[in-house]
Amino acid sequence: MQRLTGKRTIVTGAGSGIGRAIAQRFAAEGAYVVVADLDAAAAAQVATELGSACFGLQVDVRSAAAVENLVAQALERWGGLDVLVNNAGVGVAATIPNTSEADYERLMDINVRGTFLGMKYAIPAIAAAGGGAVINMASIAALVGIPDRGVYCAAKGAIMAMTKAAALDHVADGVRINCIAPGTVDTPWVARITAGYADPAAARAAMQARQPHGRFVQPEEIAAMAAYLASDEAASVIGAVMVVDGGMTAR
Ligand SMILES: NC(=O)c1ccc[n+]([C@@H]2O[C@H](COP(=O)([O-])OP(=O)(O)OC[C@H]3O[C@@H](n4cnc5c(N)ncnc54)[C@H](O)[C@@H]3O)[C@@H](O)[C@H]2O)c1
Repeated sequence: MQRLTGKRTIVTGAGSGIGRAIAQRFAAEGAYVVVADLDAAAAAQVATELGSACFGLQVDVRSAAAVENLVAQALERWGGLDVLVNNAGVGVAATIPNTSEADYERLMDINVRGTFLGMKYAIPAIAAAGGGAVINMASIAALVGIPDRGVYCAAKGAIMAMTKAAALDHVADGVRINCIAPGTVDTPWVARITAGYADPAAARAAMQARQPHGRFVQPEEIAAMAAYLASDEAASVIGAVMVVDGGMTAR
């Protein structure tokens, strides 16, 4: 399917996992993609795989100057911007008493400030191009409590709330703002989270077992939802939380 032909898009955290799958799907559907990531080598590698319609950029989504520059680079290259995916994010496995203040700040900065800055600089550009879409990466952690994820749940809950409010603010600008709430997706993130447990293999098995469909969600399944939300087929989807979780929150 080529639903995104000619759409000028930015995907943050696109050097790995879900973001990489979204960048690949967007490019396959005909979009131009800025592959933005803190990891410059990963961004360059993914952009090279996608071809000359795409380019990589090292961006720390915590930095206002970097995010402003990210949007400026897209405008300079393509003369406009149609879609932003605020996907960059990190998690920490810990109860609240066991979470350091440094980890609290890192989680809130990358997930919440990063999403705020992305929307702050991209919404006016997308509106100026005549409208488009913003897709924020929340999580089912925004919807239900997850053991050992107190601050992560707070960060993703903030992203969900910000998505809904911003969606209402920018309906009239033609900017559709939605978020995706993935269940447990098999990415390098899972390996990093489970590495913090005494028995990483058991922790991985438990994460898999909590999905009613008995397996991890695949990054490509999140990318399919992102492509739908970015496309004109989703014209009436506004301020929504799109759950892709194998039934995890249906219990
Ligand atoms: N994997 C899951 O089970 C799952 C579930 C729900 C939500 N999510 C969310 O999906 C998103 C992607 O997660 P993933 O599993 O693909 O993780 P991942 O670790 O595979 O990829 C995250 C990418 O973000 C980049 N990144 C980190 N900090 C950054 C920063 N400050 N600026 C720019 N880029 C930065 C990393 O370099 C990495 O390439 C995150 O927001 C995560 O919270 C993941």
